[in-house]
Amino acid sequence: MLDVSPVDLGDFGECQRWVDRAANEFGRIDILWNNASAGVFSTIEAMSPTDWDRSIRNELTLVTKAAWSQRGVNGGLIINTASVAGHGGSVAGIAHSATKWGVRGMTHVMAAEGAPLGIRAISVSPGVIETPGSSKQLSMPGVTEALMERSLIPRLGQPDDIARFVAFLASDGASSLRVPTSG
Ligand SMILES: NC(=O)c1ccc[n+]([C@@H]2O[C@H](COP(=O)([O-])OP(=O)(O)OC[C@H]3O[C@@H](n4cnc5c(N)ncnc54)[C@H](O)[C@@H]3O)[C@@H](O)[C@H]2O)c1
Repeated sequence: MLDVSPVDLGDFGECQRWVDRAANEFGRIDILWNNASAGVFSTIEAMSPTDWDRSIRNELTLVTKAAWSQRGVNGGLIINTASVAGHGGSVAGIAHSATKWGVRGMTHVMAAEGAPLGIRAISVSPGVIETPGSSKQLSMPGVTEALMERSLIPRLGQPDDIARFVAFLASDGASSLRVPTSG
């Protein structure tokens, strides 16, 4: 059975040990979904340097580097959870937007360096999703109502909306890319 003890994804040594354990257990890594993160939401004026460092540490993790040499079947797939905050920016999002723009930038680099190895890299940018991480903001007076006014569908996003989409991306139905073979 795979060891599922907690891992601090902001600690590269822990990431490497975690990835190595998984690769030893299963023989290879086919899919890596970099989803967990801890955003810090604060205005520029209120944000402390510690908040900034915490955001960078927990939102721009290096699991991909730890897993890079573990090739899956046909190279493998990396999915990075970015955000709509990585396409723009809004009040109290200085650190979060910076890191999510960073996630999208890292994904381009992973795709460029991964292509010759058959590794695909994709980022996913959810809008607001009801999760433990968003509950504090969503419970602030008027926030949910304001979001619903701009929403194209009559409900907030749910974790399952993202999980199902990522499951499709990770399925054989999503891509026919195969690692180049000689001859
Ligand atoms: N909820 C939203 O509205 C929303 C919108 C766009 C993007 N996202 C992104 O979706 C992803 C999931 O968000 P969520 O809302 O489910 O978050 P969440 O806060 O509900 O859950 C995040 C999980 O990541 C874990 N985590 C954080 N830092 C970690 C670390 N250093 N090591 C190990 N685990 C760590 C936390 O313990 C928690 O279990 C995140 O990347 C987030 O930025 C969320």
